[in-house]
Amino acid sequence: MHISYIQAIKNTTFRLEAVGIEGARTESELILAELAKFSRTEIFLHYNTQMPQSVIDSLEKVVQRREKHEPLQYILGHAYFMNLDLLVNPNVLIPRPETELLLERLCKIVPHEAKVLDLGTGSGAIALALGFERKDLNITGVDVSTDALKVAESNRLKYKLDNVAFFQSDLFSNLGEQSFDCIAANLPYVSEHEYLSLMPEVKDFEPKLALTATEDGLELIYKCIKKAPEHLNPGAIIIFEMGISQAKNIHDALEATGKFKNIETIQDYSKRNRFVYAELK
Ligand SMILES: C[S@@+](CC[C@H](N)C(=O)[O-])C[C@H]1O[C@@H](n2cnc3c(N)ncnc32)[C@H](O)[C@@H]1O
Repeated sequence: MHISYIQAIKNTTFRLEAVGIEGARTESELILAELAKFSRTEIFLHYNTQMPQSVIDSLEKVVQRREKHEPLQYILGHAYFMNLDLLVNPNVLIPRPETELLLERLCKIVPHEAKVLDLGTGSGAIALALGFERKDLNITGVDVSTDALKVAESNRLKYKLDNVAFFQSDLFSNLGEQSFDCIAANLPYVSEHEYLSLMPEVKDFEPKLALTATEDGLELIYKCIKKAPEHLNPGAIIIFEMGISQAKNIHDALEATGKFKNIETIQDYSKRNRFVYAELK
């Protein structure tokens, strides 16, 4: 069978649009570029080139999986986050673009040679992107899921980051008396109710353990707020990623401990409340 890249892009776009996938054309170009090992620019230059049989075969397998709404990052096995290309599989949440805002903030404000904890590290995205940008930092990433930690460790080895270490812990349970200058926590924050309305890419494929928490999504964040002061050095920073309607509850919980100051909500580029920042008194 003879088929050019542009024909394949058009066919793939048509098939993905038919199952309601938004941005189907861009995604089709991404898929073809990846399978043919072209850059996004090279694919344009090869629009009229005939595809080798091997690419035709792998394309069919990818499209069949994507038609079932499996996230492209799981199909291709990797996801871009900040300057990193991270391995991902269904044991880890696919790192989100909004979390990059958290990283940008952390890169600027974490003091020199600080000890940092990434709570709920998943693929290791926050710990590794921070460790990659800031070689002076000493970073620990913990997760309750040993399967997620295998992915995080593979990513650490890929980038040979000796300033990052991962281990298993249910929140602070295995951290002994260690204390940190900064805690970054992107813990699960979706309520059971919201979970039901998530898109199939998320609900049917991403790990529920990485997404939901009880108490309207705030259970783990509340637990973390109660315990964090024991693991923060005086003046240390804590930042939570959260759902857009959770800022007040998180502020109140931080205030209620009487141990935090300079509590601040940080918005994303669409002016939605996405992070809460505080410092230990
Ligand atoms: C929202 S995901 C964030 C993953 C990653 N930090 C990121 O930003 O892409 C939350 C992570 O918290 C982990 N997690 C859930 N409950 C936890 C707990 N009790 N203690 C530690 N980690 C937990 C999940 O396994 C998941 O990897």
